[in-house]
Amino acid sequence: MNILILGSGGREHTFAWKIAQSALCDKLYVAPGNSGTAEIAENINVSVTDFPAIKTLVLNKQVDMVVVGPEDPLVQGIHDFFLNDSELKHVAVIGPEKAAAELEGSKEFAKEFMMRHNIPTAAYQSFNANNVEEGCAFLETLKPPYVLKADGLAAGKGVLILNNLDEAKTELKNMLVDAKFGNASSKVVIEEFLDGIELSCFVLTDGKNYKILPTAKDYKRIGEGDTGLNTGGMGAVSPVPFATSNFLNKIEEQIVKPTITGLQKDNLPYKGFVFIGLIKVGDDPKVIEYNVRMGDPETEVVLPRLKNDLVEIFQAISNQTLDSISIEIDERAATTVMLVSGGYPEGYQKGKEVLGLENIEGSIPFHAGAILKEGKIVTSGGRVMAITSYGKTYDEAIKKSYQNIEKLHFDKMYYRRDIGFDL
Ligand code: AMP
Ligand code: GLY
Repeated sequence: MNILILGSGGREHTFAWKIAQSALCDKLYVAPGNSGTAEIAENINVSVTDFPAIKTLVLNKQVDMVVVGPEDPLVQGIHDFFLNDSELKHVAVIGPEKAAAELEGSKEFAKEFMMRHNIPTAAYQSFNANNVEEGCAFLETLKPPYVLKADGLAAGKGVLILNNLDEAKTELKNMLVDAKFGNASSKVVIEEFLDGIELSCFVLTDGKNYKILPTAKDYKRIGEGDTGLNTGGMGAVSPVPFATSNFLNKIEEQIVKPTITGLQKDNLPYKGFVFIGLIKVGDDPKVIEYNVRMGDPETEVVLPRLKNDLVEIFQAISNQTLDSISIEIDERAATTVMLVSGGYPEGYQKGKEVLGLENIEGSIPFHAGAILKEGKIVTSGGRVMAITSYGKTYDEAIKKSYQNIEKLHFDKMYYRRDIGFDL
């Protein structure tokens, strides 16, 4: 069958790498793709949210399956767009329908879902421009740090954690009244701060059945020792060593099962990945957030550990026969280290040539913000490349990634040298 992947990051290169290994895949397209996907698939320069252009592409190339990488097209209803079009409705779309994508599209919706289905999460209240003063009064009842979350999608920037009460009140007003995050902050969720260590759990569902993929931990801050600004993710490790079988069991019973049955009870059609951001508080898991897609760079360590044919899994998701699949996981650990443009996550330059890729041995370079230009691989984004390695232990895997990174260069290249430091 012909398959189209939507997206252009390290996550999508990893999807392409995995799908290209499947005997079920004839032609593989990526829109818009990057220099990594160009090596194994055909890139097509169409935006992930240009639904009419995606329709033309799907019809022209006789695409049978669309795998949606990022959240934007899902929250905008790409799955529904396919289902509602007589020429497209036979195409399998991997990703939830719009109503279910609200789990990521609206923090308030996600919190209400968790409350309804008794899923452990931080206590919260939500506010809008009409009750800012009540929001400020609520902040006074909490202990610092204060957690403020823009309700809508804000490109990963919509969460503020503040130590000072006055600052928290000011930011609440900035968000609600001055539209700090545009429409995304027309509502704000104020949450109890949870103190613990974070990890992510990835679940595949066909809307009825589910399968749990390996856990991963990503490193979000730009600086070593988890300091400085938040980024999309500077590296990741899988499995997560502190996720013991007892703890995983709690995640499945207290969180995964009620989430999947909750989707059914609430009539939220879901065929795709559920990414559950968790925090371990004491010995118990609590949900920080849902995402309706895979994580990036978590995909770069989770998919390399999956032994199954991914296309076979996607077919089972589409046909609602996921119960017939038995997930097989590589026992080895996988780690990835992200190379970023100097200055990221603030301003940075693009167009720097990436050198040394031909010298990499024993690691997989997944391209992210990198494109082909006049035969050269040049940077096109903040996060440029994720260097993934396997090892008997995560230490061994990380060492291999760092050894290979020594061979790579671009102007102002930066990476964290401490991925896995806290494990
Ligand atoms: P989110 O965009 O919801 O993933 O939040 C971004 C980051 O903020 C998370 O990865 C956590 O590190 C942190 N965070 C979010 N909610 C809380 C909370 N209730 N308590 C502590 N940290 C939080
Ligand atoms: N690495 C976090 C995310 O993909 O949202």
